[in-house]
Amino acid sequence: MTALYETRGPVAVITLSNPPVNGLGYSTRVGVAQALDRAQADPAVQVIVLTGAGKAFSGGADIKEFGSPQATAAPNLLDLIRACELCSKPIVAAVHSVAMGGGLELALGCHYRVTAPGANIALPEVKIGLIPGAGGTQRLPRVLGVETALNLIVSGDPVKSELLASLPGQKLFDQVIEGDLLEGAIAFALEKADVRPLPLVRDLKVRHENPDGYFQFARNMVKGMAKNFPAPAKCVDAVEASVKKKFDDGMVLEREIFTALMFTPECKALRHAFFAERATSKIPDVPEDTPVRTIAKVAVIGAGTMGGGISMNFLNAGIPVTILEMKQDALDRGIATIKKNYEAQVKKGKLKEDKYAQRMALLSTTLDYAAIGDADLVIEAVFEDLEVKRAVFQSLDRVMKPGAILASNTSTLDLNKIAAFTERPQDVIGMHFFSPANVMKLLEVVRGEQTAKDVLATVMALGKKIKKTCVVSGVCDGFIGNRMIEQYSRQAGFLLEEGCTPAQVDRAVEKFGFAMGPFRMGDLAGNDIGWYIRKRRYQEKPDLRYSKTADLLCELGRYGQKTGAGWYDYVPGKRDAIPSALVEEMIAQHRAELGITPRKIDDEEIVHRLVFSLVNEAAHLLEEGIALRASDVDMVYLTGYGFPLHRGGPMCYADTVGLWNVVQTMKRFAANPLDDASFWQPAPLLAQLAAEGKTFS
Ligand code: NAI
Repeated sequence: MTALYETRGPVAVITLSNPPVNGLGYSTRVGVAQALDRAQADPAVQVIVLTGAGKAFSGGADIKEFGSPQATAAPNLLDLIRACELCSKPIVAAVHSVAMGGGLELALGCHYRVTAPGANIALPEVKIGLIPGAGGTQRLPRVLGVETALNLIVSGDPVKSELLASLPGQKLFDQVIEGDLLEGAIAFALEKADVRPLPLVRDLKVRHENPDGYFQFARNMVKGMAKNFPAPAKCVDAVEASVKKKFDDGMVLEREIFTALMFTPECKALRHAFFAERATSKIPDVPEDTPVRTIAKVAVIGAGTMGGGISMNFLNAGIPVTILEMKQDALDRGIATIKKNYEAQVKKGKLKEDKYAQRMALLSTTLDYAAIGDADLVIEAVFEDLEVKRAVFQSLDRVMKPGAILASNTSTLDLNKIAAFTERPQDVIGMHFFSPANVMKLLEVVRGEQTAKDVLATVMALGKKIKKTCVVSGVCDGFIGNRMIEQYSRQAGFLLEEGCTPAQVDRAVEKFGFAMGPFRMGDLAGNDIGWYIRKRRYQEKPDLRYSKTADLLCELGRYGQKTGAGWYDYVPGKRDAIPSALVEEMIAQHRAELGITPRKIDDEEIVHRLVFSLVNEAAHLLEEGIALRASDVDMVYLTGYGFPLHRGGPMCYADTVGLWNVVQTMKRFAANPLDDASFWQPAPLLAQLAAEGKTFS
């Protein structure tokens, strides 16, 4: 049963019961509708209380039904809300914990609403590219006023129930009930049993003293905020209708907008990302109920760029950290950076002084391995050198207690080799954080050949606790993200040789929606990192061609922002990238030496060479089993590489373009003698899906 029914004297209590959040799936809707009928038919029932079991009133639509015929099968949510409005006996919604989306819309269809304090109230549809679709845009302004309602609808963020209940003139909640909510709701319901006519939100008037001025202002605000997404501006249109149109006409407009948005690529991308995020934690051979090890104490080896940021994640989550370094001055520098980061947050008002003090109190330092032996997890973040890692892991093997998890933050080295430095390879795993590690959402969790299942499950659960998006990767050079970015960077180099300037490439990619083009990104991260990797590649894969332009740049000492010059020039103390005549001359000269006549390259070619290089490499990763699913690749790129969210990630974008079209385009790229024809042979998986008219998803 997904809706429970009981009577308490003259009160019928209907309880949504569809864990975890009482999603309003088909069976729940039917259950509530049947319970309403039963209450109506029972002459002993005078009033109805509608509430939710467990952790929510209702979280809204049942995401398991998304896109299926059941999602809209009658009674749909609009039908159910109408049934509430037409009920001849008063219905009191007793809201607690969570009332979001359709859950809140259902409550707004009831005659009265009472709430426990602390409930999260939201209409979050905008976050998946939609507007509320069951009257939220028409009813919420009627109970909260236009401005508060629009803020809630456009942001999609939750607001606490008691805060909304305290707003002057609000009609969202009739009472805040401290103590037992159901008892309080029943008492309230009994008071209202005989009150007629029954109040309906749809009958309330919604006014604004200067609607034209206000909605113009709102449109301007939203335009600035939501560049690539149509839904926020449509929220404004729908809420405007609540002021300017009759209720039923506003409902028609809301439905039209909702339906139209559903088919936009942006909505598709956001829904894809929503489900992709949830899918990342599913590992086929590691069931969700795999027991996990307790992680109450963490040690971090190395207090450099990564070690400090990694430590902050655990301090933020209330987990004590000990950092181990080789020398005191390195330790002091690392701690100073952590303090500086926290102090900046305090200054901006994002962190309270006492919280800062609490976090720092959880941090200790040492130069001695003996001091970290009792940690449950140790993360190594020392120099990227296999011999240095060997020494560290051998020391860890000696001192760490049995059952401790030994993790490496290596970005390129073979985790299986690192595991083999110990006598306990089953306890070794990769935790590949991204810089700055305290900010970036992505954590690639690298599963070695011998990594134990409970170690993997523990790290995935811990990653969630420290608020990361964890994506499992197998072992290969660069794992998922960096192995793909190497192909992207190669293409960026070829584009320069063939006729582009760095600024032209960056502009095209940024117009597509990337936070930063490849050359601005190189200047930010340091061009020497890629140089270091390429030098290794020249030895390992002498047949793989790279453009030499990036090497020439590094030979000039132009490593990027940190040296004051890179692909661009920089004014000291500023980050604005200024196109460099010297670099353009350097590229032109190199082109001339290669005998290449530059050609005009359009934005579409630039973007597709870069993005499809990611897609083809990712298809290889899927075939090799390094990535578990295409949507995992998308999450890596959305959370770690600034891929535009409104495109849903490289694989989702390729699906949108159509894989047949992607393959055709790749064939054209392969025919370009200045490109790498062998790279552009479609990965067999991609070729097969394209031939069968299928998609990655
Ligand atoms: P870093 O050079 O900033 O810091 C390394 C720190 O390790 C230094 O403070 C050094 O004193 C310390 N160290 C070296 N040998 C040690 C030893 N035997 N025992 C104790 N401490 C030792 O390097 P960074 O950038 O923090 O990189 C660390 C690791 O993280 C590398 O494996 C790197 O590939 C990986 N990584 C780096 C990223 C980045 O953007 N910097 C991103 C992701 C991973």
